[in-house]
Amino acid sequence: MRWDERQRAMLREIGVHAWWPVDDGVATEERPAVEAREDAAPAIVPGREPPPAVPRAAAEPGVAAGLDWPALRAAVAACTACPLSGSRRQTVFGVGHEQAHWMIVGEAPGEQEDREGEPFVGKSGQLLDNMLRAIGLTRGAAEPARQVFIANTLKCRPPGNRNPAPDELAQCESFLIRQVQLVQPRIILAMGAFAVQSLLRSSEPVGRLRGRVHRYQGVPLIVTYHPAYLLRNPVDKAKAWDDLCLAVETAAATAATSTSAP
Ligand code: URA
Repeated sequence: MRWDERQRAMLREIGVHAWWPVDDGVATEERPAVEAREDAAPAIVPGREPPPAVPRAAAEPGVAAGLDWPALRAAVAACTACPLSGSRRQTVFGVGHEQAHWMIVGEAPGEQEDREGEPFVGKSGQLLDNMLRAIGLTRGAAEPARQVFIANTLKCRPPGNRNPAPDELAQCESFLIRQVQLVQPRIILAMGAFAVQSLLRSSEPVGRLRGRVHRYQGVPLIVTYHPAYLLRNPVDKAKAWDDLCLAVETAAATAATSTSAP
C-alpha cells in the first residue's frame, strides 16, 4: 500500500515509523532500530486484568433483536439490566455514521465518556482519531466510506474503571449485535483485550489474535491494541499500523466482493 506525504506526516505524528517502498523498489526504513518486543502481554491498562479465561456462550440477538435506530437508542438509554445502570451518569450509545463502512469497537466508557456521553473522548480517543485520520477516516465525514461508527462492548461505565464483569458483557452484547446489524460495516476493528476476547469468545492475548481476519456476526474483524495501551507502549504503534493496513486491505476486499456479487 502506498501513502502520500500527508499520510506519512500523520503516521509520524502518531509515532509510527514504517517501511516505505521507494521508487527503485528497494524498501527503506524510517524506523529507528528497536528491540523486537514480545507482545503477548495483554493489552490492558494498569490495574485491569484481562477477562476471564472461560469463553462465554455464543452471542445471541437478545433484547435488542429487530429494533430500529431510535428504538435501539431508547432501549440502551433505559437499560437497567445490570448494576452498572445504578452508577452511570449516562449511557454511551456510540457515535458515527449509521451506514459507516468501518466499525470500531472498544471496551467500555471511562470517566470522561460517562460525563460526555460519547465514546473515546479522552486521551486514547485523540490517539484513535489520529490513527483513523492516517487511513483517511474521520468521525466527522459525511460520506459513509470515510466515516466510522464507534461503539463499546459496554454502554455504561464500570465504576472506578474496574474490569467489565462477564455478566455485564453478556447483558450488553445484544445492543452491540444490533448496532452491527444496523450499520452493516465492511470491517470491524476491535481494540484491546476486553473487546477482542469478549467478541471472539477467546482468552488468547491480543498479540496472538492480531494479524489475521476473524469474523463477528459475519463481518470481517481485525484485532488491534487499545489506544490506551499504545500510549503506554508506543513501540507497539508499528504493529497497530500493520493492523490498520490489514483492516484497509480487508475492507477493500469486502467492498470488491459485495460489488461483484450478482
Ligand atoms: N476506552 C474504551 O475502550 N472506550 C471508550 O469509550 C473510552 C476508553
